[in-house]
Parts: sequence; structure tokens; C-alpha cells
Amino acid sequence: MTPRAFVTGATGFVGRAVVQALAARGVPTVAHVRPDSKKLDEWRRRLGELGATVDTCAWDVAAMTAAMRTHAPTHVWNVIGTTRRRASADGVAGDIYQAVDVGLSKIVVAAAVGCGARPRLVQLSSIGASVKSSSAYLRGRGQADAAVMSSGLPWAIARPSFIVGEGRGDDKRTLEDATAAVANLALGVVGFFGGKQLRATYRSIDPATLAAALVRLGLDDVRDLIATGPDLRAAT
Ligand SMILES: NC(=O)c1ccc[n+]([C@@H]2O[C@H](COP(=O)([O-])OP(=O)(O)OC[C@H]3O[C@@H](n4cnc5c(N)ncnc54)[C@H](OP(=O)(O)O)[C@@H]3O)[C@@H](O)[C@H]2O)c1
Repeated sequence: MTPRAFVTGATGFVGRAVVQALAARGVPTVAHVRPDSKKLDEWRRRLGELGATVDTCAWDVAAMTAAMRTHAPTHVWNVIGTTRRRASADGVAGDIYQAVDVGLSKIVVAAAVGCGARPRLVQLSSIGASVKSSSAYLRGRGQADAAVMSSGLPWAIARPSFIVGEGRGDDKRTLEDATAAVANLALGVVGFFGGKQLRATYRSIDPATLAAALVRLGLDDVRDLIATGPDLRAAT
């Protein structure tokens, strides 16, 4: 089967790398950009230069189902998610992770199911994701993952630790970068004393390595798998 990709969150730090990794493999790719993006022209150019077709359907089930029906993807990579700063800029109030991470993921899942093409779903999540978590972020990630797992479609979920690297542009996550640096240092000590599995699970990963793993998780016929740090590094 010749793969055809649909990527939501294609403008993000990881999403861009996923589009690039798919292009490098020659996979025809539709990169979704929200229609109200303030940088729509720039994203059309940048994602177009990577070889992707840009789709700007609205973030609702009917519009995204119609788009997926048109593009008939074999695979959907869902790489969306918000931060407090981004949500504030977007005017998202209340539980921002319920609104964005969970809400948008449920739209992607419903569209993937409803489009009739039975695409394989690959979702970017986070280490620690759990519907029972006391953290709103990790609980939201767990709920988004649960939507994927109960979709009835084949799926794979990546749960990395921190994602750190060059090229975040003007959307820096300074706190995460600093925390990742400290965590990597501490994990180096843990690894020295024999905690190699712990270090492999919680060590930060760069977007290109993660994107290559996400693409492999989709294109290899691995079904219903939750991949953490060691699996993600092994997949590249
Ligand atoms: N960064 C980390 O260390 C880390 C670690 C583990 C897991 N994760 C998870 O991975 C996700 C993606 O990471 P990333 O670093 O690639 O994030 P990112 O650069 O902030 O990208 C987020 C993507 O989601 C889209 N998005 C956010 N809010 C939206 C909204 N309200 N409506 C429509 N689209 C929206 C963004 O679109 P626009 O460009 O149009 O805003 C962008 O395409 C994170 O949100 C997080 O849940 C991150």
C-alpha cells in the first residue's frame, strides 16, 4: 500500500519535523494549518517547500471529515497541543488542555473514523500521560490517548519526555529547555549508578529523532503500541 499522510499540528516544533521526515521518505503529505493562523502565508510557503500540500479546513468534525475524505490518508499524525502562553494568545480560557489537547484530538479521531479510509493513527503524547493523573496536562494527554485507543482504528502513541533542540523559533519553551537540561544532568548521574532504563525513558529527545520515530511508528506495521524514550530511539 502506498502511504498518504495527513498531519495535524504541522506548524509545530515536532509537526514540522514530521512533515520533513515524511517528505524525505517521499510520502505524499497533507499538512493541516488552522484557517485563522496569523502566519498562514508563511506556513503555506514553508510547508510547501518541504513538499507538502497545505489544507486549512476548520477545526470541526464535519470540515475535517470532509478534508480527510478528499485526501483519503492511509495515516494520520496528530501532533497538536497547547501551552499556557499559546492558549493565552489564542484566547482559550478554562482548562486549556481539555479545550485543545483533548478537544482537537477528539476531532481528529472522529474525522479519521468518519472519512471511511480507515487510516492508521499516530499520536504524539507525553511520558506520564494518564486519565488518572493529578496534573491537568497529563490527564488531558491521557484522555486524548484514550480517544485514539478506543477509535477502532489501528494506532500508535509516542510518549517522550522533554523535546529539546534548535529551531523552536519565536515560540521558545524556556522552562522546558532548562528543566530538560537539569533532568538530563541528573539522569546522567542515575545512569552512572546503574539506572540505565530510567535514564533512557526520561532523557530528552530532539525533534528530528522523535519525528523519524513517529514516522516509523506509522509506516511500520506495528499495531496498538505505546512507545516511550527507549522505543523511540530504537525506532530511528
Ligand atoms: N515540548 C515538549 O517538551 C513536549 C514533551 C512531551 C510531549 N509534548 C507534547 O507534544 C505536543 C507538541 O509539541 P510541540 O513542541 O511540537 O508543540 P508546538 O510547537 O507548540 O506545536 C503545537 C501545534 O499545535 C497547534 N495548536 C496549538 N493550539 C492550537 C489551537 N488552539 N488550535 C489549533 N491548533 C493549535 C499549533 O498550531 P499553531 O502553530 O497554529 O499555533 C502547532 O501546530 C505538545 O503540546 C505536548 O503536548 C511536548
